[in-house]
Amino acid sequence: MKKTIAVLPGDGIGPEVTDAAVKVLQSIAMRYGHTFHLKHAAIGGAAIDQFDNPLPQETIETCEASDAILLGAVGGSKWESQPSHMRPEKGLLNIRKHFDLFANIRPVKAVPSLLSSSPLKEEVAKDVDMVIVRELTSGLYFGEPKRRSEKSAVDTLVYTRSEIERIVNQAFELARTRKGKVTSVDKANVLETSKLWREVVEERKKAYPDIEVEHMLVDSAAMKLITDPRSFDVVVTENMFGDILSDEASVITGSLGMLPSASVRSDGFGLYEPVHGSAPDISGQNKANPSAAILSAAMMLKHSFGLHTEAAAIEEAVMSVLEDGYCTGDLSGVGKRVVSTETFVTKVIEELEREL
Ligand code: NAI
Ligand code: MG
Repeated sequence: MKKTIAVLPGDGIGPEVTDAAVKVLQSIAMRYGHTFHLKHAAIGGAAIDQFDNPLPQETIETCEASDAILLGAVGGSKWESQPSHMRPEKGLLNIRKHFDLFANIRPVKAVPSLLSSSPLKEEVAKDVDMVIVRELTSGLYFGEPKRRSEKSAVDTLVYTRSEIERIVNQAFELARTRKGKVTSVDKANVLETSKLWREVVEERKKAYPDIEVEHMLVDSAAMKLITDPRSFDVVVTENMFGDILSDEASVITGSLGMLPSASVRSDGFGLYEPVHGSAPDISGQNKANPSAAILSAAMMLKHSFGLHTEAAAIEEAVMSVLEDGYCTGDLSGVGKRVVSTETFVTKVIEELEREL
């Protein structure tokens, strides 16, 4: 298979972790007979320094000519005092909007060897394997009118039927490749948008008779995520509920450095990036955990290219290096051998070679 991948390293540890993911992609390409053309471009603070623009036209063109985007992270204190259109995170918001990436997908999977770093009891966090599908381009964050005066402020929560349909379809399709269950989270006892959401889920489920569907109010879902996270498979929800629930779910695994994400649209095109930020406190020290970026590359192979075997091989390789006791500093603990970013990647690639 021949694919072109836009690589946007960004700032801080972004370049270190995307380098790691690129090495893993190159190893996969060689071993499975694929050709991945990797095209680097600037985003975030790095792009502001070079082009006076957090998302330069050159970068948009590189991405438009690609089959998927791999991103590191953006941001840092250097750009914090800039006006809002010159902030690194504007690059991220704009790229998601430009490519209409309406579905944010965040898997949360317990790693057996890291359970002791979860804030939940081991027996609760054990075997958690869920995905949160969050609507990313509509809802309260974008609805008009949005205004404020001295005495009041207004935000507007609007969803159209088609916006709900496309995100719900994504969730059903994803559930088909997993455990076959969708939990739709809303606040249908209070909100009109949630009533419409629930109606759409009921309609769409007719096309997916093989999928088990449950509706859950967002307050109960917040509780259940910490009391019984294993009961979830695919969770689908609107923008703000998804923002909150995905951060809540992300702590179950114990480390930011382990969490990948994807922002996709219906035709398979997507942007893949670790959940964590640019971690200025450890950047340039060869200390960053590259797992989240590597697992993001695995998500790309699966969601955008349909390369399920290759994606599974990457996931297994990362887990097996961790099982062997190797980790980066963020996961250090009893019985662990702390290694550098580069050594960790080398171990993952050795593991990939062994698997074949
Ligand atoms: P952060 O995720 O960068 O770091 C939080 C803590 O986790 C730090 O102590 C960091 O060292 C650690 N950490 C994060 N990723 C790690 C990894 N892969 N390996 C080992 N340790 C890791 O969040 P923070 O500190 O709030 O933000 C730093 C900068 O990143 C800010 O400029 C912020 O705006 C930006 N940011 C960017 C995001 C993105 O590009 N998607 C997301 C979140 C923050
Ligand atoms: Mg958030």
